Amino acid sequence: MFDMNAYDQINPPARLLMGPGPINADPRVLRAMSAQLIGQYDPAMTGYMNETMALYREVFQTSNEQTFLVDGTSRAGIEALLVSSIRPKDKVLVTVAGRFGLLLCEIARRCGAELYTVERPWGEIFSPDEVEDAIRRVRPRILLTVHGDTSTCMAQPLEEIGEICRRYDVLFYTDATATLGGNTLKTDEWGLDAVSAGLQKCLAGSSGTSPVTMSPRFVEVCRRRRLVEEGVRTSSHQCGGEVPIQSNYFDVCMLMDYWGEERLNHHTEATTALYGARECARISARKA
Ligand SMILES: Cc1ncc(COP(=O)(O)O)c(C=O)c1O
Repeated sequence: MFDMNAYDQINPPARLLMGPGPINADPRVLRAMSAQLIGQYDPAMTGYMNETMALYREVFQTSNEQTFLVDGTSRAGIEALLVSSIRPKDKVLVTVAGRFGLLLCEIARRCGAELYTVERPWGEIFSPDEVEDAIRRVRPRILLTVHGDTSTCMAQPLEEIGEICRRYDVLFYTDATATLGGNTLKTDEWGLDAVSAGLQKCLAGSSGTSPVTMSPRFVEVCRRRRLVEEGVRTSSHQCGGEVPIQSNYFDVCMLMDYWGEERLNHHTEATTALYGARECARISARKA
């Protein structure tokens, strides 16, 4: 017979988490995450959404309008940015010096990319010259990098890469899951077009939603692939002859319409995750 008493309330043992993440959440984040739920179109909630966007612009050090949360763990943010920008047969260059460079390769491959890598032994970093040589050789449409590769704990210097990407007209993405809120990351100053992150590391939160930011030129590339047919968003038609984005959940065009003034319905907001993410940014924005 089912014995209810066999299942106690959740009461995890006290643990000091000393790895790169997940880490012990800041008590302020836990407090925010215990707040009551409200509807996603409640003016209070849309207000929190707007505030979350503004706070993450500070954390990412960007003026990008398109700065919001993709619900899911950090790889949700990665997948949303890659699946929305990479078309089948696009040339994609990935810097690989650890496990998470390999993850970017795998996701880019799933997007149908013609994949190229520039590799170094795990734990080493790339010089800007090496990256430029590879870009000159491959002429990719997008460069994918990992800012801090958790498998090696090395941070890749990115300051000079953005200027190189601009010169060769290459989009510049980095995975800042392990670094945002801890290491310096200057999205606009460093010429980054797209960045994704997670909460469970330097941002002192719980995984479950992924902050992302996109430059206007990155947004433009994605918007060309947006689905449109007389305003019917679920059609299989495509715009401008481009291959439509192959995911609904991770379609950043739909996410932009959901987070933007239009407030077009997409997914049901992960309200508790958003409360936590907002508090993480309140804690980190001042440090950025
Ligand atoms: C650098 C980096 N990228 C991506 C991920 C994937 O994150 P998640 O497990 O939150 O999906 C991790 C996870 O540890 C990571 O450290």
